[in-house]
Amino acid sequence: MREPGADVHNLRERIDGAARICVLTGAGMSAESGIATFRDALTGLWSRFDPGQLASEEGFRADPQLVWDWYAERRANVRAAQPNAGHLALGAFARRRPGVLTLVSQNVDDLHQRAGNADTIRLHGDILADRWLEPCRCGRQRDPREATPGRPPRCPDCGKLVRPGVVWFGEALPEGALEAAERAACAAEVMLVVGTSGAVWPAAGLAATARRAGAFVAIVNPQPSEIDAAAHVLVPGTAAQVLPQLFHDAVA
Ligand code: OAD
Repeated sequence: MREPGADVHNLRERIDGAARICVLTGAGMSAESGIATFRDALTGLWSRFDPGQLASEEGFRADPQLVWDWYAERRANVRAAQPNAGHLALGAFARRRPGVLTLVSQNVDDLHQRAGNADTIRLHGDILADRWLEPCRCGRQRDPREATPGRPPRCPDCGKLVRPGVVWFGEALPEGALEAAERAACAAEVMLVVGTSGAVWPAAGLAATARRAGAFVAIVNPQPSEIDAAAHVLVPGTAAQVLPQLFHDAVA
């Protein structure tokens, strides 16, 4: 049996030599920053809360205040959190080797951006952004920031509601995001998947897409995931432990 250290060493050499790298992250990426994942037993949000109520348009329409308040608490957690050593390693790598890394995230927090990866492709939106629940009915194309404060805020003219800028179940991904992520996966020599259960599509398909296109695929996760079969190597560790080893001081 190979030691995990050998896999990390080999992967690090591939990263050092690659001209194109794609990294896909999920909730496990931010776990060590104190932001809860969704599907981890006991600590995952979906083990304690109902996604049908809290992550769907129907749930929001049924009880806008409850859903708004739940996101307000998550927003406060995100604002209080700090990027961990894994986020910082990716940010430092992007500064050292501009143009090599495309970062694709399912996370709705802004920790990759704060760590220096401003161009992160956000597949599931931005929890700190507001948008209208439905198109304007009053003819005034107001910015959601002009809404009348409330839980949730409303348009002062027609009363339509503001909602958080995340993608809920059954909704389309932000325009162009999946296409950009697929292009990056297809162009990558190394595809690294960090901290996702691989349960949510189409994001989960990116690892297999990259592999079909010829990338070396590695998964960093302390637990098995649903997309392990797409990987050439599994690195059983956490984002904050493993990513600094893979990306620290890598040279072209
Ligand atoms: P999940 O909660 O489904 O999976 C989190 C994964 O992170 C699991 O496989 C854990 O084993 C792993 N993990 C936990 N701690 C870790 C750590 N410190 N380092 C590395 N990995 C760790 O989260 P996602 O796969 O991101 O949708 O979930 C996908 C989507 O489902 C989310 O984007 C969210 C949710 O509904 C939206 O917000 C739209």
